[in-house]
Amino acid sequence: MNVINQDYPVCNLEAHRFAPEPAFFVIFGATGDLAHRKIFPALFDLHQEGALPEGMVIIGFARRSLRHAEFRQQVLEDVRAHARHSSFADSAFEAFSSRIWYLQADLEQPEGYHALAKIIAGENPGFFAADDGEPRSLSLPRNALFYLAVGPEHFGGIAENLGTAGLGTSVADSGKPDSPAGSQGWRRLVVEKPYGRDAESARALTNLLHRHFRETDIYRIDHYLGKETVQNLLYLRFANSVFEPIWNCHHISSIEISVFEQDGIGQRGGYYDTAGAARDMLQNHLTQLMCLVTMEPPATLDPESIRDEKVKVLQSIRRYSPSELVRHARRGQYIEGMGPDGTVIPAYRKESKVSPDSATETYAQLTLELDNWRFSGVPITLRTGKAFAEKFSQIVIQFKRPPSALFAAQCGEKLVSNALTIRIQPDEGVWLTFNAKLPGVPAIKASHLRFSWREVSNYLPEAYERLIADALAGDSTLFIRADESEHAWAVIDELEKAWRETDPEAPPEAGGLWRYPAFSPIPPSQG
Ligand SMILES: NC(=O)c1ccc[n+]([C@@H]2O[C@H](COP(=O)([O-])OP(=O)(O)OC[C@H]3O[C@@H](n4cnc5c(N)ncnc54)[C@H](OP(=O)(O)O)[C@@H]3O)[C@@H](O)[C@H]2O)c1
Repeated sequence: MNVINQDYPVCNLEAHRFAPEPAFFVIFGATGDLAHRKIFPALFDLHQEGALPEGMVIIGFARRSLRHAEFRQQVLEDVRAHARHSSFADSAFEAFSSRIWYLQADLEQPEGYHALAKIIAGENPGFFAADDGEPRSLSLPRNALFYLAVGPEHFGGIAENLGTAGLGTSVADSGKPDSPAGSQGWRRLVVEKPYGRDAESARALTNLLHRHFRETDIYRIDHYLGKETVQNLLYLRFANSVFEPIWNCHHISSIEISVFEQDGIGQRGGYYDTAGAARDMLQNHLTQLMCLVTMEPPATLDPESIRDEKVKVLQSIRRYSPSELVRHARRGQYIEGMGPDGTVIPAYRKESKVSPDSATETYAQLTLELDNWRFSGVPITLRTGKAFAEKFSQIVIQFKRPPSALFAAQCGEKLVSNALTIRIQPDEGVWLTFNAKLPGVPAIKASHLRFSWREVSNYLPEAYERLIADALAGDSTLFIRADESEHAWAVIDELEKAWRETDPEAPPEAGGLWRYPAFSPIPPSQG
């Protein structure tokens, strides 16, 4: 595998990582869309890479009636359709599927959790019998990871039921909050997004989870953090000496973080119309990217040092008054539009399960400022939207113009400012825009220095592979801590309040909804 430029030595940090440990991997919502498209394909890819610990036992937990063999057949179809390793020998899948079992139970009833507790404790070996009743002898792991791939309304209830069945980690009841899970092995809870819909509900959910799981055992997913290109932000900033000296308000004039999608909301209307772009994307993915771009170097690479630095960024976000917020933000909603290939996306208000007079935004933009030493006065714009002409995610660091002398004095606006673009997807890479002489004439034109991931590696793991491996290894660096989530919500809560109090029919610059046809070009930052 061509991984990294062969001319240079590779400094492998693997030795400093925790190793994934064998565990029960219990997926609540194992027949759902996320499990089908992401979780099982990622588990299979890890298996194919030899990165799943020996002795893992995967249990799918869902409501519909399925035999183990039927469930494995569904997983086979998921893997064929969505795994990176999509061509594989039958024997490879058999080795993987021999780890997979299915437990039919209702999330809302305690019986399923008690059944699960018995299975995990090794008190129900019959569960692992083949569908024809043939017994199997398995050596069971001591640890258990519970992955909540279900709607957010179930998160608290599952944690409560797990705790009641003796499957939690909070040992507050036994008065030993700092002790590990002891001879029974560790217990971890992986929680999907959305994590709350405002600061108050996020805090209430955290309190519920903390009744049965310690904070260190809770892994809140933001799948953006699992992307290689996002992890590279820390490597780019802190493994190089060229960027950090100019990574501040003396040299950077603005930062823009954009995540645009071509699809409309499709079948997600029921959830989306209660959320909107700010809650769905700004509060988590874009805010996390901002933290990674602007945080101070952590003291060490351990998870808490990194998360502490991110929290400091969130604490330094300037709090605007409602009128300032409206001025610093834009919201929009798509109306019907046709793509170049004739695809039509209906108006948002006509999408399934969307209120016909909905004021929910499908485009959100917010320009923040950090009141800290490094970035004081640098506008940081976060923007995201659905149903645009292009799909991409990127961060643009815009540097200040050179002094108005020599070339800058003569060229004026034609001399572009340097910019560092960090492309998260597609065309993953980094490019630097700089000015260069045109050959043969005394003239200047901007050009690009480009680094493309695809040129140096044909191996770009999926975000879920990394996140699952890290959760199994107990490395929480790429997961959201409770205080990060709450601080990020506080900013979005104020924005939502300001928008609620503004007439959606007002002009966009006064806080109203900008109506854009689906497949519109990406708007300039100022809306
Ligand atoms: N889908 C994505 O791409 C995506 C991306 C990011 C985050 N997420 C988050 O991931 C979570 C799951 O989303 P999803 O799209 O996979 O949802 P989904 O397709 O609706 O699947 C829901 C799952 O929950 C199970 N379930 C629901 N009620 C149950 C009950 N009372 N007892 C037992 N099982 C029950 C269903 O089992 P049955 O089928 O047996 O009824 C199904 O397996 C959500 O929090 C979502 O926000 C999803």
